[in-house]
Amino acid sequence: MMDHEQHLVFFTGAGMSVESGIPTYRGTGGVWKEYNYREYACQEAFERDPEKVWDFHDRRREKIAGCQPNRGHDIIARAEKVFSRVTVITQNIDGLHQRAGSTKVIELHGSIWRLYCPPTGRLVENFELPLKNRRCHGEHYWRPDIVWFGDPLREETINEAVAAMEAADVFISIGTSAVVYPAAHLPLIAMRHGARTIEINPEETPLSSQYREIYRQPASKALAELFPELSGA
Ligand code: APR
Repeated sequence: MMDHEQHLVFFTGAGMSVESGIPTYRGTGGVWKEYNYREYACQEAFERDPEKVWDFHDRRREKIAGCQPNRGHDIIARAEKVFSRVTVITQNIDGLHQRAGSTKVIELHGSIWRLYCPPTGRLVENFELPLKNRRCHGEHYWRPDIVWFGDPLREETINEAVAAMEAADVFISIGTSAVVYPAAHLPLIAMRHGARTIEINPEETPLSSQYREIYRQPASKALAELFPELSGA
């Protein structure tokens, strides 16, 4: 049983949502195996053919809307009721942590459920689907508020994530391949600050050797073992 006074930081990637039915990016059946990100997930592609990029994101929204948070998301959300401080830092854009009930979620790579108007900086959430007008401003299209390949991360988001890493007593990485930077650097901060570090991933990653504890299991099984008091089993 963990000390409930500790600050827990969960750091999640696509593997967190696999049990909800959402594919990863790089594994078997991964999104970037089926779709070339240069055609669907970078600013150049958007400028070249915004309708094609929009259609791709509409298909992903539809897929995600039909999926539910899994037991792993639920365990993380319940942790807030028991531990004095819980932060979720996610690379996922699917919004499943929030749907499960987590309230402190830092979205490193943005969200497919927000739109951004580049000329004005305006953000909208809770837009209706399918969007009637894909243009926000004259000729300009709304773009998903997602960090695409080649986009910088928002500075305030990184700062918030770094602060959480520095303050973490227990750092739990779940379902990320640890190959996409700068996100993949963040665990090193928690390691350097002496947190108890745990990796949950059925497969080895480039950072595996740096973790103190490793669960080579799917997210929900490992989380239920780590937090039996939250698993509802
Ligand atoms: N439970 C836990 N982990 C799992 C599970 C599972 N059930 N199934 C697969 N995994 C692991 C895989 O072993 C892999 O290491 O999830 C990881 C998924 O890796 P990626 O597909 O690379 O996803 P992620 O690390 O989140 O990618 C980072 O890349 O394209 C970008 O912006 C996108 O945020 C994404 C970033």
